[in-house]
Amino acid sequence: MTHQEIRQKFLDYFSSHDHTVVASSSLVPSSIDESVLLTTAGMQQFKPYLMGEADALEAFGNIRLASIQKCFRTSDVEEVGDESHHTFFEMLGNFSVGDYFKDVAIPLAWNFLTQELKLDPKRMFVSIFAGEPGIPKDKEATEIWKREVPGIEIREQGREDNFWGPPGGKTGPCGPCSEIYYVLDSGKEIELWNLVFMEYLKDEEGNFTKLKQQNIDTGMGLERLVLILQKKDNVFETDLFSPLLETLHQLTHLVEHKNDLKPEQLRSLRIIADHVRGGVFLVGDGVTPLNVGRGYVLRRVLRRAILHGRLLGIEGYFLLEPVRKVIEMYGEIYPELAAREKEIQAVIEEEEQKFSRSLSQGLKVMEKMGKKVDAFVLYDTYGFPLELTQELAKSQGLKIDEADFEKKLEEQKERARSAAKKREGEAEQIAPQHTAAHLLNAALRTVLGPQVHQAGQHLEVDKFRHDFTFDRKLDDADLKKIESLVNEKIRENLPVKRVVTTFEEAKKLGAEAQFSEKYAQVKEISLYHVGDDPKSAFSKELCGGPHVAHTSQLGRFEIIKEESAGSGVRRIYGRAVPFASET
Ligand code: SER
Repeated sequence: MTHQEIRQKFLDYFSSHDHTVVASSSLVPSSIDESVLLTTAGMQQFKPYLMGEADALEAFGNIRLASIQKCFRTSDVEEVGDESHHTFFEMLGNFSVGDYFKDVAIPLAWNFLTQELKLDPKRMFVSIFAGEPGIPKDKEATEIWKREVPGIEIREQGREDNFWGPPGGKTGPCGPCSEIYYVLDSGKEIELWNLVFMEYLKDEEGNFTKLKQQNIDTGMGLERLVLILQKKDNVFETDLFSPLLETLHQLTHLVEHKNDLKPEQLRSLRIIADHVRGGVFLVGDGVTPLNVGRGYVLRRVLRRAILHGRLLGIEGYFLLEPVRKVIEMYGEIYPELAAREKEIQAVIEEEEQKFSRSLSQGLKVMEKMGKKVDAFVLYDTYGFPLELTQELAKSQGLKIDEADFEKKLEEQKERARSAAKKREGEAEQIAPQHTAAHLLNAALRTVLGPQVHQAGQHLEVDKFRHDFTFDRKLDDADLKKIESLVNEKIRENLPVKRVVTTFEEAKKLGAEAQFSEKYAQVKEISLYHVGDDPKSAFSKELCGGPHVAHTSQLGRFEIIKEESAGSGVRRIYGRAVPFASET
């Protein structure tokens, strides 16, 4: 059975049991759910419904739901490369939002495995929650299992294994669970399907109270199920990965040796395969490489893949082909990948170019460091994620001083904060000149005509230079008129206000902008207007600020000089002289 057929069987089965199939949500959780960085379970998109805060019937037309959810977990990232650990994976799940409970969920799952997929019942056993202070043992689940599958082995386990959630660990819905295990030919026990009997809410203080409703949340890793059904020893041999590994074998010229690879070669190939697949899905959901948050997760997996490419002897850039392969393999199931193919390629290629340059140098520097590896230098100068340095050091039997790394990182952040504060302070100081320049721009257009536009500007603490399009020298009368008009607006003590709007709206309002094409690209732009109503305001310009709050803060305005600044461009030097500074 191919993975496509397995997916279909799952969805068909739950549809025929009155479930509504819901598409996977993004790997980037919705902004309402701040408890997790990335989507790690199928229930996450249903959280408000499971909590009883929103109506599933209204949203999905049903309170029985099923999905195949994209998930990303980083807790096991160091173990990627063995048989069963991944960063990205897919989770098959059925959900009851206050509808059926354990007595339906258990037979539904069991029958799917044994009747639909024909898995051998003798190879399976289950676990139930053994109970802990405050939460009783799940006797009910034991009874249901005994009734449904007489003679099945039932293991009792504690909170660690058989109490699930909340995701992120802090607060949210959770409950005891029952897991179905499958024993491979090798004797290895695989945790196949987790049935969560969600009836508790963990609050901020760590207390458990009963949820408004009893829910079912189940999760079965597609990778593991496919491995079992395709009778493989590990996931990389299933059709979820094999075409990708084929590509990697070709790329690394290991194709003739693919059956007698050294253990470290095998591990590197699998790490690249897992990380490229995960990276493609992250970028597909809009994540870009950064040094913080989910961007850092992406950066880490991409850089780790690049390093392992290097360890396999690849000299140049190589990620593009495997990236294409992943999109080819998954683009039909996840149309967002196919739709954003070019963008995904570009983001990953750029990161590869950025990191490849410093990787070789960094490795050399690390070698020179000998036993005292400075993880901060490698991070700061060569872009090595801490975890990557740790892994490299470990392979040479060395240890990283993590406390030292954290300390240096904190010092660097402090330096950056101080510099930003200083810049902000300087920017505040130029605010009066900046507002005066806006008034001058508006006055020029009023006196000389609307064909006048700003062509350049330079602000200083006590004066500014303003360039504008105009084809002749300004005479004294012009200059007097312009200066008086600005001073009139200062005396009127008009408010200076900022609104956030779209480029289209700003254009309709007749806002002035020097770099219109630049602004046209961005969705939200900031517009400053002088005068209460943006429609009738004397001055309105697209601008990042800062400005004073009221024009009276400018004191008075004077033109210092007027001159040519090239063909068709004039230049005025002017200044606002706030009253306080005149003493
Ligand atoms: N939420 C549970 C899990 O992630 C079952 O879907 O295992």
